Amino acid sequence: MPNLPYTDKVMEHFKHPRNVGRIENPDGKATEGSPACGDMVSVYIKVDDRTKKLSDIKFESYGCASNIATGSIITELARGKTLEEAKNITWQEASEALGGLPKIKSHCSVLAVEGLRSAIQNYEERYGLITEREPTTV
Ligand code: FES
Ligand code: FES
Repeated sequence: MPNLPYTDKVMEHFKHPRNVGRIENPDGKATEGSPACGDMVSVYIKVDDRTKKLSDIKFESYGCASNIATGSIITELARGKTLEEAKNITWQEASEALGGLPKIKSHCSVLAVEGLRSAIQNYEERYGLITEREPTTV
């Protein structure tokens, strides 16, 4: 077995990340940072009013290879999903879709997943879909 830290799939998404950039006038957006390393990821979403599905999603990463690759795969996993489905995407699923991330790098994928969830929450707050703020979990 080759002793490379990253799978081919991670490298491929790192070198050619999908859906990079920002959306002008997004329906929801969020930036998450990790105190562990100071890296950040921003996620922008467009939501179809009628179906409540994610019609567009883009991300910008100021993080490492794992974070870029997870941001990329997450935009692919989330596009076309309902908000509820997209909220339930876990970092483990993202990591599996990438063929596995090194354990030490799991928080980088958590960061990307949190970016997506926060962007959805931002949308829900803006459009009054949340009446009370959900308690922040640590
Ligand atoms: Fe900071 Fe991965 S995003 S090390
Ligand atoms: Fe910060 Fe990986 S070390 S997200």
